[in-house]
Amino acid sequence: MIDVMKMFKARMYMKRNEPFLYSWHAYVGYELDLFKAFDRPMTKFDVSDALQLDEDLLKQWVSIGVSIGHLKEMGRERYKTWNAWKLPKPKGNNSSGVLLKEMMELHIPTLLSYPDMMRNQERLHYDEEKHAPTVAETSRLLEVLALPKITRRLKETHANTVVDIGCGEGGYIKKLAERFPNTHFTGIEISPSVTKIAKVLTKDNKNILIENADLWQYKPDEPLDMVMMNNVIHYIDLEKRQELFNELASWIKEEGMMSIITPIAGDSDSPPFANVFNSFFSSFDNLYRLPEREELAKWGEQAGLELLNIQTVIKEGGWYVVHYKKKS
Ligand SMILES: C[S@@+](CC[C@H](N)C(=O)[O-])C[C@H]1O[C@@H](n2cnc3c(N)ncnc32)[C@H](O)[C@@H]1O
Repeated sequence: MIDVMKMFKARMYMKRNEPFLYSWHAYVGYELDLFKAFDRPMTKFDVSDALQLDEDLLKQWVSIGVSIGHLKEMGRERYKTWNAWKLPKPKGNNSSGVLLKEMMELHIPTLLSYPDMMRNQERLHYDEEKHAPTVAETSRLLEVLALPKITRRLKETHANTVVDIGCGEGGYIKKLAERFPNTHFTGIEISPSVTKIAKVLTKDNKNILIENADLWQYKPDEPLDMVMMNNVIHYIDLEKRQELFNELASWIKEEGMMSIITPIAGDSDSPPFANVFNSFFSSFDNLYRLPEREELAKWGEQAGLELLNIQTVIKEGGWYVVHYKKKS
């Protein structure tokens, strides 16, 4: 009886892990541009030769691809990318592959170091410069879903001046600046390499200024109509979050807006992904857990900001856009 249970559980774990193969295979294909290489029927040798890749390992990757339907055998030892609609587009086109890259290179290795971290009571250190470009790119995937909510708010506000804290590659302000040509947008970004990308991407937008600065060192020249801060709260130490809200509120005009995008965790009905984000962030000595719903209300209240609403961006990730209005 016990042996039957053992086999049942072993099979269950293996079965539950099967989806990992699909993600891993797609990640390798994205990272090495293999789906593009097999766009037309190709032999393994042609591809390993053209891309200077290890032939044996490529052979294994192709075999798995055939068994899970990412590739198809076309005869004469040639293979072709199959079911392309399920696969990430090549790099650089705001491809969904960047999400796989972040998951495989950052999230999964981090979660696998849990036993060691717990045993040794240590934390990892988040290497900002190494991961910032990938993280900034994945954040951009959210934009499409969050932008309409911010646009609506901005339209009501008739804002002349907007500052985006931790603007990443400047994706939000670029789209907003095009939509609101008479509003001036400033993006603040601490990472020099990400700032550089943001500057290049927004160079044709006359109403955008990108500054390489730490938000704690920054002060706007005049009171602002709106402050945006998207996916930044987990960079801020828990003890400094109230201070952050106080500081941001002090930059805003009376009746001005603050718009924040963040995953929220800690509710009993938080989705598993929001909770696992917390395990991930807590693994680093320089990243911190996500805010809870009550905290967002409390920090705003104490900073003189009225919480207007919390709207869902991605339910499964527990992602929300939160709007506040500065009290007069
Ligand atoms: C997850 S990304 C989000 C980028 C963008 N706001 C978005 O939602 O697409 C967070 C960004 O905040 C920046 N950041 C973190 N701490 C900062 C600070 N103290 N001052 C300015 N930027 C900061 C990071 O370098 C990173 O590019």
